[in-house]
Amino acid sequence: MKKLFVLAFLAIAAAASADTMDAFIDSLMARMTLTEKLGQMTQLPAGTIQTGAPQESEVGKLAKEGRLGSILNLKGAEEILALQRVAVEQSRLGIPLLVGMDVIHGYETLFPIPLGMASTWDIAAIEEAARIAATEATAGGIAWTFSPMVDIALDARWGRQAEGAGEDVFLGCQVARAMVRGYEKGPHPMLSCVKHFALYGAAESGRDYNTVDMSRLRMYNQYLPPYRAAVEEGAGSVMSSFNIVDGIPATANKWLLTDVLRDEWGFKGMVVSDYSSISEMTRHGLGSVRTNAVRALVAGTDMDMAAKAFAQLPDSVMPYIDRACRRILETKYRLGLFENPYRFGDPKRVKKDVYSKKHREAARRITAESFVLLKNEGGLLPLQQKGTIALIGPLVDSRSDVTGTWSFCQDVSKYETLHEGFERRLKGRARLLCAHGCNVLDNLATQREVASGHGLEPIPPVDSESALQEALSTARQADVVIMALGETAWMSGEGAARSDLSLPAPQKKLLHEVCAIGKPVVLLNFAGRATELSWEAAHVPAIMNVWYGSEVADALCDVLFGEVSPSGRLTVSMPKATGQEPLYYSILPTGRPMEDNDPRYQVFSTNYVDVTNGALYPFGYGLTYSRFEYGKPVLEGMTVSVPVTNTGGREATEVVQLYIHDRVATISRPRKELKGFERITLKAGESRQVSFTVTPELLGYYDSNLQWTVEPGEFDLMVGPDSRRLQSVTLNFQPQ
Ligand code: NOJ
Repeated sequence: MKKLFVLAFLAIAAAASADTMDAFIDSLMARMTLTEKLGQMTQLPAGTIQTGAPQESEVGKLAKEGRLGSILNLKGAEEILALQRVAVEQSRLGIPLLVGMDVIHGYETLFPIPLGMASTWDIAAIEEAARIAATEATAGGIAWTFSPMVDIALDARWGRQAEGAGEDVFLGCQVARAMVRGYEKGPHPMLSCVKHFALYGAAESGRDYNTVDMSRLRMYNQYLPPYRAAVEEGAGSVMSSFNIVDGIPATANKWLLTDVLRDEWGFKGMVVSDYSSISEMTRHGLGSVRTNAVRALVAGTDMDMAAKAFAQLPDSVMPYIDRACRRILETKYRLGLFENPYRFGDPKRVKKDVYSKKHREAARRITAESFVLLKNEGGLLPLQQKGTIALIGPLVDSRSDVTGTWSFCQDVSKYETLHEGFERRLKGRARLLCAHGCNVLDNLATQREVASGHGLEPIPPVDSESALQEALSTARQADVVIMALGETAWMSGEGAARSDLSLPAPQKKLLHEVCAIGKPVVLLNFAGRATELSWEAAHVPAIMNVWYGSEVADALCDVLFGEVSPSGRLTVSMPKATGQEPLYYSILPTGRPMEDNDPRYQVFSTNYVDVTNGALYPFGYGLTYSRFEYGKPVLEGMTVSVPVTNTGGREATEVVQLYIHDRVATISRPRKELKGFERITLKAGESRQVSFTVTPELLGYYDSNLQWTVEPGEFDLMVGPDSRRLQSVTLNFQPQ
């Protein structure tokens, strides 16, 4: 009875206007013990609840005792609702749990990995995908996703390049905003979490969790803007990163979490640590867990993910404990959890919405949009659905790998392998022959671990010689050979750094031998990062980058067989050699410049003795099945316009891009920076005038005192189909 009364009171209070939130939380906190406050600030993985009754699990017990504020990574509406009932009906104050999950590129309907989503350059589609993810995840009981990951990633050796939008700050901001809108502003909103704050993508040597050291100038101009954009768009939470910033782990960095995030940017939500990052501070060499828990709290971390470190906080830091607890309760209040603790988790909606036909159709369309066609010699693609088609590679029969890295909520049993999808599509039209051809990696223990370490079925090892012979005989029988090669799902993502970005040795050998047969070959390069395809670019007639997704088999058939023309563009520079990393287009000039692709080696210039400068395939690059021609750009006032014509034989989509360069500035400025883009679809023969209006905001930068500056003078405005093939006009900017 007492409990019901409390619940009713909470519900009535929560239904009242936002102005009453403070009063509601004041009254709740007045009744909370220190242990209950620290409980709110503690988040734990679901752990044993996955296999047992919620009441019996560790999280169930803690929830009942009011010593748990949040859980992460439990899938299943019924299980989540059962646990929520424990927290609400059996704990002293009945405060609902905040249920979080890594819903990174979809729930069960899986879109391409985030790097692939960004490769669409289709901001509306990115928002739509996040909205669909929220619709499914909230039905499944999830209130909070640890997404978007907006870390700028210039170094493709870092496996987590897969999880962000790539190397560019302007595109990164647009994608960050779109994802926050998709998660937080749809019909089934959920709390988003901007991560990893901050600079996680700048880990030295691309090795995950490694040291980051960077000037504040670079932070402000290149790394911080996407986090800020997400915060401005209304992201309700932020996750601190594992790395150090100015020598202090981000989780305990007051300058970052309070001075910048709250005081400068006005963030009002809550900050959660990354997984165990408070206890890991001991290994950073910063003393005991208790000391670091205090540091993290005072710096501005409100919730401790997985370390159980905040349970050790002393009451001497009570004002900070109150601050953190209040922010968490406010978050729960804003989500409507006090009004209805069971609003997330609806078994009926699971049946209707999760992996629905409508969502799968959207995923198929967006997946097809994400593929980046890198080469198409002699118009080999699209293929005809006739004759004999060989589909070869270690990925063709894998069900676990189709969806790519961080497909945390996937239901593998629902997805088609490439083999199954192609067979269904070609039935009655063409003969399909499949073969594995080789192992993924020479090191079979690693091949197993990259999958089983994430609870997935590894690709079974094959005998190299007989698999090769089988593949070669398959290829000989075919009219055309499609090679599905590259990275398995978890060869990118967390902890998946690579020191060699080319195809793994056994796959390279297979490809070389198949190409030697002389049949037309199409390479599907499955990748979670920029990879190195120098040999392939010289020897394989058609190459397309593929970024996974639950509907990838269908989407591939749509594109390979010509129903859809490819329209993805790279958001990372693909290197000629791994040693060029970190490789990105928006480099600063040097005093001894050297053009991209200049074939001469020049001593005392910025170049290599063994490879020419610049990318093999540059940022922004991608082909279609048609051709686009650009007329001369014209500048009128602050608007640059360029006529674009589809001069090919079919409708296709072009991504028209605008870059700027500040010719003379107080500090050195990038030789080019993306400042606008537009996706246009034109029929064969159709022309369109594409215009970009440059605002002073787009010309500005942070100076050495971290002051925002817009300087007068000449700017190159460059338009074209990618970051390399550009035509320029000069803007003489004089502020009014
Ligand atoms: C650690 C990862 O760095 C972070 O991205 C993720 O959200 C958490 N684990 C929770 O799974």
